[in-house]
Amino acid sequence: GPLPIEMCVNLHDISLAAQKVLPERAWTYYASASEDLHSHRRNLHDWDRILFRPRVLKNVKHVNMHRKILGFESSLPFFIAPAAMAGLGHPDGERCLVRGAKKFNIPYFVSDGSSVSHEDLAQELEREGYGGVLFYQLYAKKKKDLTIQRIHRARQLGYKALIITVDTAVMGIREEDDRYRMRQAFERGEKYIPLCGLAPLTKDDDWVLRGVHNAALDWNDLKWVKEAWGNTGPISIKGILTTEDAKIACEMGFQSIYLSNHGGRQIDSGPSGLRALLEIRRFYPDVFDKCEVLLDGGVRRSRDILKALCLGATGVGLGRPFLYALSAYGTEGVLKVIQILSDELEISMRLLGVTSLDELRPHMVNKLDLDNS
Ligand code: FNR
Repeated sequence: GPLPIEMCVNLHDISLAAQKVLPERAWTYYASASEDLHSHRRNLHDWDRILFRPRVLKNVKHVNMHRKILGFESSLPFFIAPAAMAGLGHPDGERCLVRGAKKFNIPYFVSDGSSVSHEDLAQELEREGYGGVLFYQLYAKKKKDLTIQRIHRARQLGYKALIITVDTAVMGIREEDDRYRMRQAFERGEKYIPLCGLAPLTKDDDWVLRGVHNAALDWNDLKWVKEAWGNTGPISIKGILTTEDAKIACEMGFQSIYLSNHGGRQIDSGPSGLRALLEIRRFYPDVFDKCEVLLDGGVRRSRDILKALCLGATGVGLGRPFLYALSAYGTEGVLKVIQILSDELEISMRLLGVTSLDELRPHMVNKLDLDNS
């Protein structure tokens, strides 16, 4: 079995525990990324190329880790990123994530491809407990009416912000998922239909994994998305990786951009969210006055979160660590991940010489190594 949960000291231990217990299909879907995994590896390694410039003797006895994310109070500066199909890892699936978000009062961005219904998750949030807030992550469907229906339903259910993911015109090429299915089909003597990309949608296809995405979507469509959401709450555009697109999103009046390469699962050799942040800081510094910047990809330590905040991000998301946690340990695992990150953050803030996240500034990091590459 997996390591007893008490013995997990960091997010790497949680990931190893998940790898031990997960069935192959689930591990493959969660852990894999596209093509040669360049973007995924960069996500993990780029963080360590930013150095801190720690200050000493600053009286760091009391530390405040609160932060507003998309206008909602959060006890910590990170959130649960949208990830489909938590049900592959645990029968309670996304419910575990709602419970974690509640207990620690952090936002949970619920995926459009959630295994548990959005109604049930909204109800789970209403149960007795502390805080938490649910945001709705949307993939535009091929049919406009269906997309609008989804947006209206999210409003009715009380989801507080809309995140539209725009990096998925088609699915990236996830070869490990393909191989797994290929082998399964072969063993059953069935015909193999490729998982990703250009394969036609058949009736009983798992929509998350195949072509429900709308490759015809463009910036103009975001106007009707915005209209359908109305003034329910803020909208964030997820999957922005360039200055050009950041500018368009801000100029169209969206409240937030969310820098992400989708956990390295879409275009391979795209930049990490962190590199995109550096580019946008350099060529479009006004972005921070106009738009709230969120980011994710490869965050496994709270020191990564601190670096992103120094460079102007408001909040940082984690995807896989939460899937691994619920797979290995259910709700307890989710709570453990948040607790580990919270402890790490408190310590890193003190060692950096700050007592509040509002004090974080670009001069507190040295990013020369990344600037020059
Ligand atoms: C994702 N991601 C994702 N993003 C999204 O907008 N909608 C979705 O349904 C999914 N589904 C999904 C499934 C799985 C298994 C993974 C690993 C990722 C991307 C996710 O929101 C986030 O961008 C990355 O997971 C961040 O990288 P890390 O934290 O996993 O390294």
